[in-house]
Amino acid sequence: MIIVVLSFKGGVAKTITAIHIAESLSKHRGRRVVLGDGDAIRTALNWYKRGLAANHNVGFTVFDGDEQPPDGFTDLVIDTPGNPNEVELTQLANAADFLIIPTSCSPAAIEATIQTLTQFNELTPDRYRVLLSLVPPRPSRRGERVQQALVQASIPTFTQAIQRRDCYLDAELSGCTVSMLSGKAAAGAAAEWESVGAELWKLTKSFR
Ligand SMILES: Nc1ncnc2c1ncn2[C@@H]1O[C@H](COP(=O)(O)OP(=O)(O)O)[C@@H](O)[C@H]1O
Ligand SMILES: [Mg+2]
Repeated sequence: MIIVVLSFKGGVAKTITAIHIAESLSKHRGRRVVLGDGDAIRTALNWYKRGLAANHNVGFTVFDGDEQPPDGFTDLVIDTPGNPNEVELTQLANAADFLIIPTSCSPAAIEATIQTLTQFNELTPDRYRVLLSLVPPRPSRRGERVQQALVQASIPTFTQAIQRRDCYLDAELSGCTVSMLSGKAAAGAAAEWESVGAELWKLTKSFR
C-alpha cells in the first residue's frame, strides 16, 4: 500500500511521522517497507545515511523520491514538503491509499489543516487521519483540547497523539528511531508510535 504523509504547514513532524510509521510497518507487521523522500531538503534521506554510517538497522530503506523505488516492497511511505499547492495536493491524494496529516497544536497549524480539509471534499474519511503531534507535555492540557476541537469539527483524527519530547532531536542526529534510544522519555515516545501504528494497521486493512 501507499501511505503519504503530508501537511499544509512546515515543521509539524511530517518526516518524523514518515520514519516512525515506516518502522512500525516493518518491525511490528513484518512488511517490506521503503520510504520515498519527496522533500527537496532530503531530511529523511540524510537521516537514513547518518543511521547507515552508525550501523543502525531501522528495518526499512529510504530512497530519493526523484528516483524509482527499490524493487520488492509491500508498502511505500512517502514523505513530502510542506505547503503543497492544490495541484500537488490532488496528485498526492490520488496516488495514496491512505494519507497521514500531522499537525502541531498551534492555532495556525490547526486552522491550515481544517481549512484545507474542508475544501478538499474528494477525500473520504476512510482514506486519511490527522495526527496531532508536538503536543506539550503535562501539566499542559492543550493537546487534549485541540484533539477535542478536531473531533468536534468532524476531522478524522488518530486517537493517539504524539507528545513533544527532546529525544526526537537525539534520534534525528544519530539516524535512528525513538525506539532505538534508551531512557524513559524515548520509551514513552516509542509506545505512542506503537499505538498510532496499531490504529493505522486497522484503518488500512482494505488497502493491503
Ligand atoms: N514529538 C516531537 N517532539 C520533539 N521534537 C519533535 C517531535 N516531532 C518532531 N520533532 C522535531 O521537530 C522538527 C521538525 O520535525 P520534522 O519531522 O522535520 O517536520 P516536517 O517534516 O513537517 O518539517 C525536527 O527537528 C524534529 O526532530
Ligand atoms: Mg520534513
